[in-house]
Amino acid sequence: MSQNGSNNFVTVRIQRYNPEVDKKPRLQEYQVKLKAGMTVLDALHEIKTHHDGSVTFRRSCRHGICGSCAMNINGRNTLACETPLKDEVDSRGRVTIRPLPYLPVIKDLVVDRTTFWEQYLRVKPWLVPPDNIPEKEFRMSPEEVEALHSAETCIMCGACYSSCTVIGLNKRYIGPHALLKAFLRVLDPRDAAPGERLADIAGADGVYRCHTVFNCIDACPKGLNPTQAIETLRKLAQKRQKFEAARRERQQHLSEPISVK
Ligand code: FES
Repeated sequence: MSQNGSNNFVTVRIQRYNPEVDKKPRLQEYQVKLKAGMTVLDALHEIKTHHDGSVTFRRSCRHGICGSCAMNINGRNTLACETPLKDEVDSRGRVTIRPLPYLPVIKDLVVDRTTFWEQYLRVKPWLVPPDNIPEKEFRMSPEEVEALHSAETCIMCGACYSSCTVIGLNKRYIGPHALLKAFLRVLDPRDAAPGERLADIAGADGVYRCHTVFNCIDACPKGLNPTQAIETLRKLAQKRQKFEAARRERQQHLSEPISVK
């Protein structure tokens, strides 16, 4: 693996930067012994525990659920806890880890996600229920559930957001993560505000700002497709009033059994 004479060591290069004391970022190298099943996050823990306690990164669940360990590994945004270290070692025995791009660095691999969460709140990510809430349950068809499935497994890690070149130029753009959430709510037959949502995301910073570069699809560690969701929202925004009327009609029948063909 490494060129230090041992096949079992990997050179992990971490971008170090403390804006309060450093003039610019630098790469610092650490030698980590490769163990079976080791992830990039395991390597970071090893470094922090045994080499340098000042290395700073976020993590929580270690199982690809919380999204907090998203970072840039060998030039690709992904989750450190789901990335096997051995798969990332280049021909020189090195792995390079940087913070997510386009976001201000707080320290080392920790970025300031303020704009990410501001844009998320901007699309009102909560469900707006109809007035006639069924006494027992909402009844949805398998097709309606399937349409939501393509968006509901998002873990809000920020990998798509910080791979988006539009975000790199313009932080006013709502961004793929929030538009995917808007898609989830607009397509949900239980939601009573699809017209308002479609009007909001059709503005200057919304769906028409997307350049369809597909970086968000490549970056998503859950295999989701924000670009397709944005495309669907564009089409629905063009027939917003018709869609709103269809939703009102659909919500008259939310408590009725669905016939499965
Ligand atoms: S630590 Fe939670 S997704 Fe990696």
